[in-house]
Amino acid sequence: MAYERNILITGGAGFIGSHVVRHFVRKYPQYRIINFDKLTYAGNLANLKDVENEPNYVFVKGDICDFDFVCSMFAAYDIDGVIHLAAESHVDRSIKDPFTFAKTNVLGTLSLLQAARLQWKKTGYEGKRFYHISTDEVYGALELTHPEGVESDFSAHEVYGDEFFTEETPYRPHSPYSAAKASSDHFVRAFHDTYGMPVVITNCSNNYGPYQFPEKLIPLFINNIRHRKPLPVYGKGENVRDWLYVEDHARAIDVIFHKGKDAETYNIGGFNEWKNIDLIKVLIAEVDRQLGRPAGADEDLITFVTDRAGHDLRYAIDSRKLSRELGWKPSLQFEEGIEKTVRWYLDNQEWLDNVTSGDYQNYYDAMYGNR
Ligand code: NAD
Ligand code: TYD
Repeated sequence: MAYERNILITGGAGFIGSHVVRHFVRKYPQYRIINFDKLTYAGNLANLKDVENEPNYVFVKGDICDFDFVCSMFAAYDIDGVIHLAAESHVDRSIKDPFTFAKTNVLGTLSLLQAARLQWKKTGYEGKRFYHISTDEVYGALELTHPEGVESDFSAHEVYGDEFFTEETPYRPHSPYSAAKASSDHFVRAFHDTYGMPVVITNCSNNYGPYQFPEKLIPLFINNIRHRKPLPVYGKGENVRDWLYVEDHARAIDVIFHKGKDAETYNIGGFNEWKNIDLIKVLIAEVDRQLGRPAGADEDLITFVTDRAGHDLRYAIDSRKLSRELGWKPSLQFEEGIEKTVRWYLDNQEWLDNVTSGDYQNYYDAMYGNR
């Protein structure tokens, strides 16, 4: 069958990527979706079991840094669209091992850009698009001008400051992770400005939902609460993050891939700020409720530990441009998203055990001790 489009999704076996692949494979049978992933510790084909036999889905194992292989893939599949999610994504790891982050996130992105450019030069840029997925962390950190939180029309939840990241906020990355992501964003813009490549970039807030690797706050803590293990809260738990359900991110990516303006940046967020300690209490209450434990039974698991080096105080996204121009809004209330997420992890202990066994477990224990 001749497909209408051939779309390369990098990092499709990871957390967000697997939701994006599933969304595109199901919604667009007329597109061929090529999932290109190295299957690092964070990538897992079990995340895509339900779509792996679909005729319009192809998996290719490979490294985005392997330029010759990436070029051969662009030619073999006649790629006309890229949705680039492959990255090293965990801030704590980037503090321990910044080189890997520079290599994958910066050089890997450059390798994809250059391969796309060489392929698309042959046929022209008409109908092509390179969509780069980035993070709000490139903007740095915001102040907590309302440490106790205040109600606001701006947000579905309380807000903790007067400022928000907009598309015009200057880049001020602090962690090796966000510095590498910022650098890759600059390369994407440079390929537009220098070679005219059709690109679009989005900067999204913290995602949560099924299939997230359990080194990130929400899946790690759900699993620890279930097994009554300590919950390592960095610093005083005062840091604020804006949380978005991962399927809402996948929907935003769909809208922007199809309708976003060339060379634009769009911020994607949940209008949903939470102080870590408050979020953790919500998680404890929900896990205890679903397991039939007395309310708040597990709050004594909260353990304050040494703060993360350079820990950004507050992230808060203004995603009104995306709502105004392309009509996207988060669809899920946070309470519903947390209920679904906790249910999924409690129902999928086997998935958690599989992804945290073997090599990863050894690495994790070496880095953090056995939490
Ligand atoms: P993840 O760590 O769960 O998945 C990353 C995927 O990339 C994995 O499948 C991994 O195998 C693959 N990968 C890593 N190195 C590779 C390489 N060299 N070649 C090919 N594949 C490779 O990450 P995630 O949380 O799903 O994040 C996906 C993207 O979204 C990243 O670019 C991240 O910066 C961005 N982002 C994430 C969040 C979040 O809250 N998780 C928020 C905003 C933006
Ligand atoms: P994380 O899920 O790592 O996302 P990010 O650092 O990209 O925002 O962390 C979310 C917040 O939770 C962040 O402020 C750090 C904090 N945190 C803890 O307090 N303890 C933990 O064990 C982890 C993993 C994170």
